[in-house]
Amino acid sequence: MKAVSGRTRSAHVIRIASLPLAAAGALALLSLSACKNDSAAVSADKTQSPWPEVSWPLAQDPALEKRVTDLLAQMSVEEKVGQLVQGDIASITPEDVRKYRLGSILAGGNSDPDGRYDASPAEWLALADAFYEASMDTSGGGKAIPIIFGIDAVHGQSNIVGATLFPHNIGLGATRNPELMRRIGQITAVETRTTGMEWAFAPTVAVPQDDRWGRTYEGYSESPDVVASFAGAVVEGLQGKVGDPDFLDSSRVIVSVKHFLGDGGTTDGKDQGDTRISEAELARIHGAGYPPAVAAGAQSVMASFNSFNGEKMHGNRALLTDVLKGRMQFGGFIVGDWNGHGQITGCSNEDCPATINAGLDMAMAPDSWKGFYESTLAAVKAGTIPMERLDDAVARILRVKFRLGLFEAGKPSARALGGKFELLGAPEHRAVARQAVRESLVLLKNQGGVLPLDPRKTILVAGDGANDVGKQSGGWTLNWQGTGTKRSDYPNADTIFEGIQQQAQAAGGKAVLAVDGKYTQKPDVAVVVFGEDPYAEFQGDIAHLLYKPGNDSDLELIKRLKADGIPVVAVFISGRPLWVNREINASDAFVAAWLPGSEGAGIADVLLRKADGSVAHDFKGKLSFSWPRTANQYRNNVGQEGYDPLFAFDYGLTYADNGDLAPLPEESGVSGEQAASGVYFQRGEPAPGLSLSLQAGDGQPEKVTSVPAALDGGTLTVRGVDHQAQEDARRFVWSGAGNASAVVATDTAIDLSRESNGDVMLVMTLKADALPEGDIWLGVGCGENCAARVPLRDALAALPRGQWSRVGVPLKCFAAAGADVAKLDRLWRLETAAAADISLSRLALGAQNEADHIVQCPVK
Ligand code: BGC
Ligand code: BGC
Repeated sequence: MKAVSGRTRSAHVIRIASLPLAAAGALALLSLSACKNDSAAVSADKTQSPWPEVSWPLAQDPALEKRVTDLLAQMSVEEKVGQLVQGDIASITPEDVRKYRLGSILAGGNSDPDGRYDASPAEWLALADAFYEASMDTSGGGKAIPIIFGIDAVHGQSNIVGATLFPHNIGLGATRNPELMRRIGQITAVETRTTGMEWAFAPTVAVPQDDRWGRTYEGYSESPDVVASFAGAVVEGLQGKVGDPDFLDSSRVIVSVKHFLGDGGTTDGKDQGDTRISEAELARIHGAGYPPAVAAGAQSVMASFNSFNGEKMHGNRALLTDVLKGRMQFGGFIVGDWNGHGQITGCSNEDCPATINAGLDMAMAPDSWKGFYESTLAAVKAGTIPMERLDDAVARILRVKFRLGLFEAGKPSARALGGKFELLGAPEHRAVARQAVRESLVLLKNQGGVLPLDPRKTILVAGDGANDVGKQSGGWTLNWQGTGTKRSDYPNADTIFEGIQQQAQAAGGKAVLAVDGKYTQKPDVAVVVFGEDPYAEFQGDIAHLLYKPGNDSDLELIKRLKADGIPVVAVFISGRPLWVNREINASDAFVAAWLPGSEGAGIADVLLRKADGSVAHDFKGKLSFSWPRTANQYRNNVGQEGYDPLFAFDYGLTYADNGDLAPLPEESGVSGEQAASGVYFQRGEPAPGLSLSLQAGDGQPEKVTSVPAALDGGTLTVRGVDHQAQEDARRFVWSGAGNASAVVATDTAIDLSRESNGDVMLVMTLKADALPEGDIWLGVGCGENCAARVPLRDALAALPRGQWSRVGVPLKCFAAAGADVAKLDRLWRLETAAAADISLSRLALGAQNEADHIVQCPVK
């Protein structure tokens, strides 16, 4: 048997379609006055500055300043440096805080008490207490300075089981209702306080310009006007209104307006990429949310991962210090993003005086806090960081802690709302979220007025989004990616089906759930709920706006129901507008539902009439993002030249409108074969642009173009094997007669440096039928003479023999083992000289909870 073909080159390229950058032109760099004092101006000629002047709403408070100065005077330099550092609860203990006197902790998206995403609210509160108490413990001689605890309460207190989950910002943008934002902010603050945190990493005021960006849904709108109209209201909702008695009281939290600046403007919509535009455009589009947020007294701003014309924002003194603290008079503190400082040229996660000198006041150093603390201390002692800069940063942080009353507040559980868990998902909170869902729905088509539906009829509710709170809630829900959760994780929620069922039943009708759309009794109408599965950050970056490339199952479901003569209402769940012309054509009505969150019942409120036939709630939502005409129209925003969307910004039908729509063209404009980003091997095949090869020793890899195939001499063979479908996996058998590897590789190297910052893993769905007698390695390659590998035998030995499991290897293990993760060309190399029998069904990037077994990086 010898079916391994020669080296056929594959022309497809996945994922990183790096187009030439638009000529950047002569980019006016901000002219800087080296400013020591943070109210210094940015540019000599104020009349020319694109940055608005803002006035900080909090008047100088001599009593507050005295407290700050007095405390500062008593603090050691070690204590001062400690205030500048924020560690993540997955990598820091209360003991560490007691010793190092850090100023803050955070819970990252995947960080939970005991590492359980479904930890109880009481466990969260106990954790907050433990850290608070450590910070106040002076037995070791330090000053008592209360720690401040931040969390991504980005659509409600969304990391906590039972919390009210509001629609993600993209849906809120469609409501155009700033007063509603205020209420949502207030409720989020209250629910956050019950579990002990005083700080929400929200609101995101990004103005996403390229819908391929994985964080599009975190933005309210592509329009800076919409974002600006919301920013002040959300800040006031979360913090309270300056001057009101409840401003920053124990029912409120501080905000982090994020991400400063230009996060939504990166080339190709690449997360953490480079925003290459003029300063004027940066200010006008991406800066729009900051003046109203600062004017509302925002207590913190988060620096962004992205660069501005090649310079990482964490090191951009002109923007952080001169514009934000200077011209906009921002009087809070600037916090960094997750090891964002480590991306500055010349910095590492553990060492970066440049970020502090640029104006960052607190570094988010999740797992790097100890190194960052030590190097910052050394830099202060060496004078690399001037004492004045250190004192200014500490003073800014202390002011916020005093304003919040933290010094007098007692431990989190002893505060007004601490432990009042009945407020998590309280009925009056959920009612507001449900209103937000109703107002966020955008009706794109209503052929023949099929909507609103008669609730007394029989309604089939189909599609994989019909009965799935996780799917309807998107990323940043209980865990970072929002994946892998189950119905019981959401005690205070309704699925979309449950909402329809309750209201149909109450009216004397009937709703039937059938995810696959199969029925025994023919329904009067079908509601098909489908769309994107949850994702967060760069894991959601895509190459074009084609919905589910290569998988037409939802379209087929709609068509099947239509062929049976059943009218179909499509409810589309997504974190961005996508090219779905075929699905729109196939359905009678089409509703963009975005990521509604816990209140799926808000959808029935609008789709169904009341029992008496009257309309209960009309559609109110208006597109806050333009809907694309083709899958290539990802950067087509209101107000731009050549603006030509399918459905324009502000579009949204009501029941008073004629909802008929002529058939739309079904040419997407892209070839359907581009791989879903981050999936390297599935259904037995490498993703387009990738190849599977067999390699003898260090010889040339030989591409497998059909199976079965084998290396000469049979040291390694591959054949098709079944996992969930016929031959949807590949079985590799090593004879033990020599070293051989199975390799998944790409012709165009890919950059996984972002993915390696954090806990993203290479997840293999595999089955080990026979373990090798000797060593087996999993490696990656990064060009000539660049490779790294980690031992896999112990991990494989721990798996249940002969069963499929998902094994995750953190990308940072490869980086630690010496791989250059910025230019990977061999993404998976399974190598052994011993006899072994291992099958692979899928290879993809994934989060911790997408793996059953996690390989520990070998300690060096
Ligand atoms: C994100 C921030 C978030 C932080 C903490 C970062 O990766 O960019 O938006 O607040 O993590 O989870
Ligand atoms: C954390 C997120 C963070 C991300 C950055 C994850 O491990 O849970 O909060 O935003 O890493 O890469």
